[in-house]
Amino acid sequence: MSAPNKSYDPVEVEALKPEEIERMRDEALAAFAAADSLDALQEAKVAHTGGTSPLALANREIGALPPHAKAEAGKRVGQARGAVNKGLATRQAELEAERDQRVLVEESVDVTLPYDRVPAGARHPLTTLSERIEDIFVAMGYEVAEGPQVEAEWFNFDALNIGPDHPARGEADTFFVQTAANGGSAAGDGGTESGVVLRTHTSPVQIRSLLDRELPVYVICPGRVYRTDELDATHTPVFHQVELLAVDEGLTMADLKGTLDHMVQSLFGEGMKTRLRPNFFPFTEPSAEMDMVCYVCRGESVGNPDRPCRTCSSEGWIELGGCGMVNPRVLTACGVDPEKYSGFAFGFGIERMLMFRHNVEDMRDMVEGDVRFTRPFGMEI
Ligand code: DAH
Repeated sequence: MSAPNKSYDPVEVEALKPEEIERMRDEALAAFAAADSLDALQEAKVAHTGGTSPLALANREIGALPPHAKAEAGKRVGQARGAVNKGLATRQAELEAERDQRVLVEESVDVTLPYDRVPAGARHPLTTLSERIEDIFVAMGYEVAEGPQVEAEWFNFDALNIGPDHPARGEADTFFVQTAANGGSAAGDGGTESGVVLRTHTSPVQIRSLLDRELPVYVICPGRVYRTDELDATHTPVFHQVELLAVDEGLTMADLKGTLDHMVQSLFGEGMKTRLRPNFFPFTEPSAEMDMVCYVCRGESVGNPDRPCRTCSSEGWIELGGCGMVNPRVLTACGVDPEKYSGFAFGFGIERMLMFRHNVEDMRDMVEGDVRFTRPFGMEI
């Protein structure tokens, strides 16, 4: 080991010269003063007080000095570092105060400003779909007709040629309304004697329209209907239908078919088609079940296991509802001469259409009133 270098003069160590230390201190203080943000100050702090800052490096040189020179150099560097730290703390406090002041101004809340007390909601998609259907027919000259939801049995059944023994008239499907006239509070009879029901379909509006209006009659009748179903994924005791009725001279099944095709093309796009399958309804003769081409696979999933379609279960067609030529007995019940006039009608469920048009898998979503269901349909008017 070599002995300490007695002749070593600290003044000769460049980094420890008093004027060098002063310069380092002043540079540091100038850099802090020039920092105009806390981020800039942080950079200056690292540069002037960090482990590789000039003063830190100078501090390291002290260890190599002869003992008699260490104290003085240590004091000089220590004072400079003290001044630098103090300058830093002062500037830090100034900039923090400036920031706090700015935040107070920029982020202040004017509690006197008016605010939205009621958040904007969204219309229910059943309403918008129903109105969209109405619009298609209004554009063709149809009128929108409405009828009561609490309906006389005569309108709901008899006038529609649904005889007294028809199974749909039973308590199993129909809500009967107890009225004061039939003993109101009399418990246990189910109220089936009242002659008043919650309408089970929109078809009674056909009767009301024919009785109320001059011929020819072209009406579209949207509305709420009731059946004694339990609420589950595909049933609800309260649902919506749209009914259409056209009564004029010379109407045929071809007019019905053309009207249906126009409706599905307006709702689902160009090229959509319908097909009719024979069926029975008491109020139409002949009657048919109406299907539309599956708007998702357009029939291409049929017999094509590589392209299964969930919307139509690979059948190519989706069942829409019922239709037919108005039964002459219905026309007669409404005082319309079936020799002179003929008519067509159809009716279908809006919930079902909403389900397949928008891939809604559970009908309960439509009745629970949760805005998270309605909101994605937007504010369509
Ligand atoms: N009212 C029928 C129902 O609720 C649907 C219906 C079928 C309406 C045939 C019609 C029609 O107008 O012609 O099941």
